[in-house]
Amino acid sequence: MSVEEPFDLRSVIQCRGPERYALHARYLNPQLPRMLHAIGFDKIYTRAESCYLYDADDVEYLDMLAGFGVFALGRHHPVVRKAVHEALDADLADLTQFDASPLAGPLAEVLLTQVPHLERVYFSNSGSEAVEAALKFARRATKRGRILYCDHAFHGLTLGSLSVNGAGEFRDGFGPLLPDTPIPFGDLDALERELRRGGVAGFLIEPIQGKGVAVSPPGFLPAAQALLRRHKALLIADEVQCGVGRTGDFFAFQHEDVEPDIVVAAKALSGGYIPIGATIARGWIFDQVYSSMDRVLVHASTFGSNAQAMAAGLATLHVLDRDGVVENARKTGELLQTRLSELVERYELLREVRGRGLMIGIEFGRPSSWRLRAGWTALQAARTGLFAQTVVHALFHRHRILTQVSGDHLEVIKLIPPLTIGEAEVDRFVAAFIDVMDEAHRGNGLMWDFGRTLIKQSRSR
Ligand SMILES: Cc1ncc(COP(=O)(O)O)c(C=O)c1O
Repeated sequence: MSVEEPFDLRSVIQCRGPERYALHARYLNPQLPRMLHAIGFDKIYTRAESCYLYDADDVEYLDMLAGFGVFALGRHHPVVRKAVHEALDADLADLTQFDASPLAGPLAEVLLTQVPHLERVYFSNSGSEAVEAALKFARRATKRGRILYCDHAFHGLTLGSLSVNGAGEFRDGFGPLLPDTPIPFGDLDALERELRRGGVAGFLIEPIQGKGVAVSPPGFLPAAQALLRRHKALLIADEVQCGVGRTGDFFAFQHEDVEPDIVVAAKALSGGYIPIGATIARGWIFDQVYSSMDRVLVHASTFGSNAQAMAAGLATLHVLDRDGVVENARKTGELLQTRLSELVERYELLREVRGRGLMIGIEFGRPSSWRLRAGWTALQAARTGLFAQTVVHALFHRHRILTQVSGDHLEVIKLIPPLTIGEAEVDRFVAAFIDVMDEAHRGNGLMWDFGRTLIKQSRSR
């Protein structure tokens, strides 16, 4: 397109869209198209609606990944889309920086109705940024430096959030990081030991970990809260993935009797349109951070509270409430989990189905019969997680269902579909999963062939 021609986004999409993988390889992260090509995921999707994606031939794919949890309401929800359009069309004096946003207050007010024990909200532009704010706020409020976090935790990839990331593969080569301390997930003794060492500002935890879909043991959060209070340290719940309705409660921590001092949300609050992060905290914590007029901008972000993000957030919360979406996540999640759990008896490769609401992990394990063990052991020897990858591959190529392996070196696939799915999607997924498990248990065929391809690839990385 030359500069003389009027700008036309549709023609950019139409003309350059088909080149997306080549352009990505040339100008962005070249490993992404390489990886997608290796597993045959390099589709050209041309449109999306609700919980479905469509390729150039209008073939439909069921999206059980929801953009890593962003599309809680499915794609292109009409109410959210209309709100974003209205925010654009209102010609607001947005991002003036020296005024107060007309939409941030109303969004904070609605969000706080979900957590009545908290009083203030800081808006940013992503989950990582919202976690960064929580870390800084906890340090400032307690005047202490140490943050405790859990093994296998994922809190983002910026330097601060990476310092509390429990997965070594992300940290490698980026040190030195902040000297924060990991404890095993759900280990109260370890938490108490570290609190006794002193200097702890807070304990950051995902009530349900995204990596592997590990659910905090019943009673752990209340007991952790009591310990933290005794040591005057803060409980910080990272609800970026498990929050905003996903688990059948508005926030996952609400499954138990706890009141975290800081709650972090993002992803779903965007309505799938405009990036947003929210750090929700007790009033006294904000009073410490913004303790005088001199400190008014001590923690701020240029695009935080922008009108489109606030509009998308408001519309999303409206739809969640109006349509009983959180209740649907609970009911549909229970149905899906029950039907998948029934299969554990039937398939020796299937170890466990766990999670809450529409955050479900399916874990595979070593088969007992010698017939399957050889293939399983060969995959494990090459790399843990390759069997789960063959399942993800088969679900995608045979049944056009998008899922993911739930983290490096894990034999777990994760389901985090839009919270609006219903029985039809549950039926489709369960039938597809049964078909894939049947094939896996035959011990030969395309799935195991693909496994051998993965073994070769892992040797030539
Ligand atoms: C629990 C949790 N915290 C934080 C983040 C980081 O969010 P973002 O990718 O928006 O920076 C994620 C992202 O997946 C997450 O799952």
